[in-house]
Amino acid sequence: ARKKGILDFMKMKNDGEQAVWVTAYDYPTASFAEQAGMDLILVGDSLGMVVLGYGSTIPVTMEECISHCQAVRRGAPNTWIVGDMPFLSYQISDQDAVKNAGRFHKEANVDCVKLEGGRRVCSQIRAITDAGMLVMGHIGLTPQSSGQLGGFKAQGRDVKSARELILDAIAIQEAGAYALLLEAVPPELTGFITRKLEIPVYSIGAGQPCDGQLLISGDMLGMFEMFTPKFVKKYANMAEIEVNAFKQYINDVKTGLFPTDDHVYHILDSHEEFESL
Ligand code: KIV
Ligand code: NA
Repeated sequence: ARKKGILDFMKMKNDGEQAVWVTAYDYPTASFAEQAGMDLILVGDSLGMVVLGYGSTIPVTMEECISHCQAVRRGAPNTWIVGDMPFLSYQISDQDAVKNAGRFHKEANVDCVKLEGGRRVCSQIRAITDAGMLVMGHIGLTPQSSGQLGGFKAQGRDVKSARELILDAIAIQEAGAYALLLEAVPPELTGFITRKLEIPVYSIGAGQPCDGQLLISGDMLGMFEMFTPKFVKKYANMAEIEVNAFKQYINDVKTGLFPTDDHVYHILDSHEEFESL
């Protein structure tokens, strides 16, 4: 299929067509997502937890993000790729934010970057946009500042905090972001923000009334075993499939069932000639 772009995403919003996306961190997953017809792919800094085994997203570096974005781009050359800016790659200054967003584009050929936060990162969103790049905002449950939120907790569930998120959403659009991701907020708030904004609004754990849905591949495929958020629907149990395959392989080797004649390269000369060496 033809690669979708920003105009397609605006049209999909206006036509009421849902955009569907998933995270990917490696070449095969990216390729499978593209084959399946995914509208976008996020190379999330969740890669720290999902594929690198860190306890949070805080340790993830620019180098790790770039390297995984490069693999995903190779696997999905015709899909819109969102590069996720890791902790401390944009918080310190607008200059840092532009430089690091630029690295995602120059070194990994992403289509846009995403960064966490509302009004407090709007000057960075403006700076990256002014440099000619596309930015997606991300508010609600923001894992890079989960310490301040008291953990991985749903946000905006009371009117006061919902109001703060609405102000953040409007500020993000005004700063020039082309889209917004809401994470773990009530669907009532998601619907309100989606109607209020002109840019596409996407949900991860934020319910249906918006312009599209994102899930973390490790969650939906059953590859991430540390915990599963309430908002996840599991479509496969890859952990079980992999452990079973590894167990069968172990058993086959130990009992002589593998390898067999099907899996070897026989010598081409006569057996006798070989044995006489
Ligand atoms: O890193 C990530 O996968 C994300 C999603 C949780 C939204 O930012
Ligand atoms: Na992220």
